[in-house]
Amino acid sequence: MENTNTITTTKQKRVFSGLKPTGQLTIGNYIGAIKNMIELQKDNDCFYSVVDMHSITIDIEPAILRKNSLDMLALFLACGINPDKSTVFIQSHVKEHAELTWILNCHTMMGEARRMIQFREKSKENKQNVNVGLFDYPVLMAADILLYQADLVPIGKDQKQHLELARNLATRFNNKYSPTFTVPDGVFNKTGAKVFSLLEPKSKMGKTGDNPNGIVFLLDNKDDIMRKFKKCVTDSETEIKAKTTKPGISNLLTIYSQFKNVTIKEAEKEFAGFSYADFKLSAGECVADFLGKIQKEYKRIINDKAYLESIMKTGAEKARLSAYRTLDKVKKKIGFIV
Ligand code: TRP
Repeated sequence: MENTNTITTTKQKRVFSGLKPTGQLTIGNYIGAIKNMIELQKDNDCFYSVVDMHSITIDIEPAILRKNSLDMLALFLACGINPDKSTVFIQSHVKEHAELTWILNCHTMMGEARRMIQFREKSKENKQNVNVGLFDYPVLMAADILLYQADLVPIGKDQKQHLELARNLATRFNNKYSPTFTVPDGVFNKTGAKVFSLLEPKSKMGKTGDNPNGIVFLLDNKDDIMRKFKKCVTDSETEIKAKTTKPGISNLLTIYSQFKNVTIKEAEKEFAGFSYADFKLSAGECVADFLGKIQKEYKRIINDKAYLESIMKTGAEKARLSAYRTLDKVKKKIGFIV
């Protein structure tokens, strides 16, 4: 018999993503980022970082930063990011991020950094603290990605311009010296699902300055979740359908369908004929049930300090190994004595 067996080994892709521990995680972060991160870890070699160095580009209380960072790590794990498969770590534990940022700074033009929309917006929002770190934020993000030779970077649409800068810096460096960095591609949430504030269904959930009653945090208790859903802003019609003219109802349908893993059409069918009030209750219940399970796991993890510490230590060691390799190459190429 002819041997037709061919073993095809497709090389796993390297994935890098980071979330800032600036505020508490919301269902917007879950749907927009974490769900995608969990999905990607099935077939890829993923690096997921709590990017605390990015968080200090705006003024943040040390105690809050510390708590948010640990909470974020525990929530990553509670949501299903598996530390045996993926490398989960705190950005500031791997000093290579700061070192590569400096080198990339010297390859970034003032003009291109100045064009970054997020920098412009944040400087307007925060006139009293337009610091150099805020300006340099996109370069630090490029260093995050390029250190790990990431092929894929799951991000929200608002981070597209930053990824473009990372791609430009990688290409520029590769052309100036010799091939060094993988030029990364962005991965955007397939469904395009975006979650808006329950009170202002046209503005993204969790933007700074948002009314907290419009935001559902992953650590909210059931009473708070139900209260927020009940008060959710809708419209004066009665039909449960996703339409641009019905941002409140569309947002609830997105949230429900994402937590139930059904399509918007299926959700619309399920709630045909329901009153808005009943639909709000069902959506709230579904989110509260889902988050209840995550919170149980979160509580177990956050109270197990030794476990969290071992995760952080192993994560940082694994990350450093990869980061060090890239940085070493970079230093040699630019003429540093290593
Ligand atoms: N800037 C990203 C955000 O606000 C967070 C981030 C930092 C990031 N470094 C990263 C995302 C590297 C992807 C890859 O969402």
